[in-house]
Amino acid sequence: MKKLSLVFLGAPGAGKGTQATKICEKYNIPHISTGDILRANIKAGTPLGLQAKAVIDKGQLVSDEIVIGLIKDRLAQEDCQKGYLLDGFPRTIEQAVALDSFENVAMAVNIAVKEDEVVERIAGRRMCACGESYHISTYSKDTCAKCGGKLYQRDDDKPETVKARLDVYNKQTAPLIDYYAAKKVLYTVDGSQSVQDVFASIVKVIDGNN
Ligand code: AP5
Repeated sequence: MKKLSLVFLGAPGAGKGTQATKICEKYNIPHISTGDILRANIKAGTPLGLQAKAVIDKGQLVSDEIVIGLIKDRLAQEDCQKGYLLDGFPRTIEQAVALDSFENVAMAVNIAVKEDEVVERIAGRRMCACGESYHISTYSKDTCAKCGGKLYQRDDDKPETVKARLDVYNKQTAPLIDYYAAKKVLYTVDGSQSVQDVFASIVKVIDGNN
């Protein structure tokens, strides 16, 4: 079996985090989300977190230099040697080029969802501090089913910030689709299906290429 070095691409709210949790559980690989790493730093009040919060709350990207450094360190750890799933990285061509300089991406899975649907998904997303995420259309409680924690809305999920995030995605991240297509490692799945069907589509891609 090849090293399962996976990248998830997709607009904000496309379902990358939802699918990453399930895929990492199935293939027993670490889920590495730059968004989660940055939010953990914000929560802990680290210097990086303080710097990142101002940028994230505006819907902009944290500097390439910072996130490339974070990912390089994380991928050097022992648990990544058999594979990993990157969720939210790379997000710019510069980040993708840097990743190629120290890793070989086996598959880049693009979870494709139309813009009006991601806006609706983000508006209804509620988070728990344990990392679980819900949507108000399918979950009406205000506490987490897993740990009982109180659910909240992410600061960057407010409508004005979401618009900025989508603009940034279209300008800086969407070009990665062509970048990975040119390397012949791009696989696009229809992210507008149910969570289970998107999961089945991604498993088919991984099993068909490994
Ligand atoms: P990050 O945390 O990576 O946010 P994002 O890419 O905007 O993605 P989201 O977490 O919003 O969405 P998702 O695709 O994971 O969707 P989810 O599964 O939750 O980044 C946040 C910020 O950090 C960035 O804006 C930037 O500032 C900074 N940052 C991070 N990485 C960076 C980098 N590499 N460089 C620079 N800056 C960086 O699903 C969304 C909702 O839809 C949920 O409610 C879910 O329940 C629901 N849902 C999921 N799938 C389905 C489905 N199939 N059908 C119906 N509902 C569904």
